[in-house]
Amino acid sequence: MSRTVHVDLGERSYEIHIGSDLLPGGALAGEAGIRALIVSDSHVDPLYGARCEAVLRRQGIEPRRTVVPAGEASKELPQVQRLYEAALDAGLDRRSVIVALGGGMIGDLAGFVAATYLRGVRFVQVPTSLLAMVDSSVGGKTGINLPRGKNLVGAFYQPVEVTADMSVLESLPPREYRSGLAEVVKYGVIWDAEFFADLEAKAEGLLGREASLLEGVVTRCCEIKAEVVGLDERESGVRAVLNFGHTLAHALETRFGYRDLLHGEAIAVGMAFAAELSVAVKGFSREDGNRLIRLLRRLELPVSLSELKEPVTWDTVRDLMRSDKKARQSVPRFVLAERLGSVIFGCTVPEEVQQSVFASFPRE
Ligand code: GLY
Repeated sequence: MSRTVHVDLGERSYEIHIGSDLLPGGALAGEAGIRALIVSDSHVDPLYGARCEAVLRRQGIEPRRTVVPAGEASKELPQVQRLYEAALDAGLDRRSVIVALGGGMIGDLAGFVAATYLRGVRFVQVPTSLLAMVDSSVGGKTGINLPRGKNLVGAFYQPVEVTADMSVLESLPPREYRSGLAEVVKYGVIWDAEFFADLEAKAEGLLGREASLLEGVVTRCCEIKAEVVGLDERESGVRAVLNFGHTLAHALETRFGYRDLLHGEAIAVGMAFAAELSVAVKGFSREDGNRLIRLLRRLELPVSLSELKEPVTWDTVRDLMRSDKKARQSVPRFVLAERLGSVIFGCTVPEEVQQSVFASFPRE
């Protein structure tokens, strides 16, 4: 069985297919003879590259595979140049397609190459991490890092299809899987209190990767993301709610580097911080704050600074939050919760409140 979520963006609309043993490329049906370049990384290609290639070949598509080294360091300009060369070598023309087979790094990088090669060729997202399935593969954010910062160059460029095959999650390392669960929890907080309660009821099953639960949970996350992106594709407003927990998280990621702290781990700590700020300035109830923190703990995610690899000081974090690309005139912006399922974006918080919450969160 598979489920489909429609992302409604006018002529850029597409479907997200969620299930097991899915075949990427449904959106390309009837296009036998077109060429495809499958972009993957050195961890994912040995596991799923051949299968993806065979599936495309069975549909009459002519695929080639190219592999970049695993890790965030590949999301940079030299790899973009190399992928343009690989696309030329594979004879990709305006009808061709780029298939991003991997986690968030691959989706962002291959999507950016697809957005710019020949001024844009179609691309298909085949996310292989939980985080990519519920967040980065949906919504069209593509881009690369510069030495001076993350995602500083990029484009909004929608895929023509997303295929999330739950069976690939079995091979995901435990830490990466848990990191994806942080983004799952985020959707409950920002949009859907009932979904949050459902996650509370299913926490142990989710941690155990129960396939019967995962499909429904990933589907609900994709529905929420599709709804938000459908309202505000280019983040001029409400799409910012997806950044709940991200203000502190980005500062922590910069401070620790991307190996020592995974994105979802940083988001978990960032959500605990945002929850406490929300209690302090937005009337978010102590009980709801505690529910969020307890759920993150049950999912074995960090919620405090003491769980990080090294101490981190307020001065460092304050300076990093001030220079975040979403800050305005060096004033950091936060997404804060009024209650579970409802958040406000673009909030400012007096610096003394930020500092005092930072010194002692979480209070649960
Ligand atoms: N990951 C946040 C967004 O897609 O807007």
